[in-house]
Amino acid sequence: MLLQLDNVSKSFGALQVINQVSFDLEEGIALGIMGPNGAGKTTLLNLIAGDLPLSGGSISFDGNNLDGVSAEQRCLSGIGRTSQIPRPFTGMTTYENVLVGAMYGSNLSEKEAEETCVSVLEQTGLLPRWNVEASQLRLLERKRLELARALATKPRLLLLDEIAGGLTDHEVQELLELIRDIRANGITIIWIEHIVHALVSVVDRIVAIDFGNKLAEGTPEEVINSDEFKQVYFGVESVKLD
Ligand SMILES: Nc1ncnc2c1ncn2[C@@H]1O[C@H](COP(=O)(O)OP(=O)(O)OP(=O)(O)O)[C@@H](O)[C@H]1O
Ligand SMILES: [Mg+2]
Repeated sequence: MLLQLDNVSKSFGALQVINQVSFDLEEGIALGIMGPNGAGKTTLLNLIAGDLPLSGGSISFDGNNLDGVSAEQRCLSGIGRTSQIPRPFTGMTTYENVLVGAMYGSNLSEKEAEETCVSVLEQTGLLPRWNVEASQLRLLERKRLELARALATKPRLLLLDEIAGGLTDHEVQELLELIRDIRANGITIIWIEHIVHALVSVVDRIVAIDFGNKLAEGTPEEVINSDEFKQVYFGVESVKLD
C-alpha cells in the first residue's frame, strides 16, 4: 500500500468535517473522490498533504506514519498536490514557477532541477510558453502549470483538487490526455472532481463522501449505481444509470 487512511477525522471547533474515514491506496492506482460541495473533499486532501493537522486517526505513506511530518517533508518524500484555485507566483514566468517546485519540493540538485523543469514543461505542453509571465496564462494553461509545478516535485502520489473545474468540454479533454499520461508514468493519483464523465474515464476506484462520512467505495460503476450515492446526488434510490 502506498497510502493508508485509518479512521481519519477532522473538526474545526464544534464542526466535524471529516468523520472516521478509512481507505487504502495501492501504488499505481488512480482514485477518484466525489461528494457534494462542502462534503470535506479538500479538507481530506489537506490532511494527506499535511496542510492541516488531524483531529483523530492516522495516515501512513509508504508504510510510515505521517503524524508530525510537515507538509514540506511530505512533499519531499513524494506527495505532490495541486490547489483548487490555481495560485501561480504571478510576478514569475512559467519556467520560474516550475523551477520553484523542482528546487524546493524535491531533493534534486540545481542542474537536475533545471532538467526536470524542461521535461515537465514539455510533458504539460507549456514549453512554448516557458518565458511568459504566469499572470498572462489562460485558464487551461494555469491548470497545466498547477500540474507542472506538482510534477516538478517528483511525486509518487499526486493529489488533484478539481483540476478540471471551469474548463470547456474541449479543454477538459485536453487535460484528460495529460492526466492519463501522468498515470501511465506510474504516478499514483487521488483526484477530486465534480465532472463525473472526466473522472470515471481515468480512475480505477471512487470513494464518495458526504458530510465528512465515507458513503461508498468501489469501481466507478459500483459507486455511481449505489443507493447511497443516488440518494445524495439525486434524492432517490431507484434510478438506473448506465
Ligand atoms: N479552515 C476551516 N475552518 C472552518 N471550517 C472549515 C475550514 N475549512 C473548511 N471548512 C468547512 O468544512 C467543510 C468542508 O469543506 P471542504 O472545503 O473540505 O469541502 P469540499 O468538499 O472541498 O467542497 P467543494 O466541493 O465546494 O470544494 C465546509 O463546511 C467548510 O465550510
Ligand atoms: Mg474543495
